[in-house]
Amino acid sequence: MIRFDGVTKRYPDGTVAVDDLTLEIPSGQITVFVGPSGCGKTTSLRMINRMIEPTAGTISIDGEDIRKKDASDLRRGIGYVIQHAGLFPHRTIIDNIATVPYLLGWDKKKARATALELMERVGLDTKMAKRYPFQLSGGQQQRVGVARALAADPPVMLMDEPFSAVDPIVRNSLQDEFLRLQSEVRKTIAFVTHDIDEAVKLGHRIAVFQVGGVLAQHATPDELLTNPAEGFVTEFLGGEKGLKRLRFNRELDATEEPAQPEIEDDVEAAER
Ligand SMILES: Nc1ncnc2c1ncn2[C@@H]1O[C@H](COP(=O)(O)OP(=O)(O)OP(=O)(O)O)[C@@H](O)[C@H]1O
Ligand SMILES: [Mg+2]
Repeated sequence: MIRFDGVTKRYPDGTVAVDDLTLEIPSGQITVFVGPSGCGKTTSLRMINRMIEPTAGTISIDGEDIRKKDASDLRRGIGYVIQHAGLFPHRTIIDNIATVPYLLGWDKKKARATALELMERVGLDTKMAKRYPFQLSGGQQQRVGVARALAADPPVMLMDEPFSAVDPIVRNSLQDEFLRLQSEVRKTIAFVTHDIDEAVKLGHRIAVFQVGGVLAQHATPDELLTNPAEGFVTEFLGGEKGLKRLRFNRELDATEEPAQPEIEDDVEAAER
């Protein structure tokens, strides 16, 4: 479990990006940070892997203050996925995915076998292993980003708008595949989006932020939709009309059969 305890981030110019945040991110679940642009979602996320240091307060993982850990050790246990995937353009797909295993000094063969396995898990044809990122579609690049973050099997994943750069149809299938994958790997995930539909679809819990980095509500999607906080949250959910639509979509999702994973073991075939 990740815990924020009275965490504030004030940038040197005085901007308060995150204001006295206290929040728990339960293990093995997806917690979504949602809110308008500039409300402190990315800042909150990046404080978890110490890319940004808080001004006040404490963040702990499984009860241990993250400041007590070496920053690079900490990051090895945390996969990070960003918008536009952020792949290395001059590395092949397989080498992109194997980035962290290589850094950890894994045997090259083992690192590549893991990368190929992950390609399948995220729904990528292993025939693409030798391509470069520019030879993939946007949605495929996002899948590589997810596979790369999973490569060293970190218990924690930070995902910052990982699916927002693709069109709604691709986004929908990436979300479905991501949920299927998470049902297998059960990582502790902090997922940032500004899209409330995405938050309701993916989150076990949703943290709604408002500008100024203030946590407006933290609840399960059902609680949020049946009992939204007055004012900002209700407005953010789109008022009565928006709420009605979100509740309706959620009921539809709940009645759908979950997709069955199709994972074939042709790692060796792809290596040839
Ligand atoms: N290095 C910085 N110096 C000063 N202010 C910053 C810095 N980085 C971010 N901010 C400010 O902190 C606030 C929160 O930024 P943050 O990137 O966390 O927002 P966000 O919720 O991720 O927004 P978006 O949805 O647009 O990505 C914003 O007002 C932003 O301008
Ligand atoms: Mg952001």
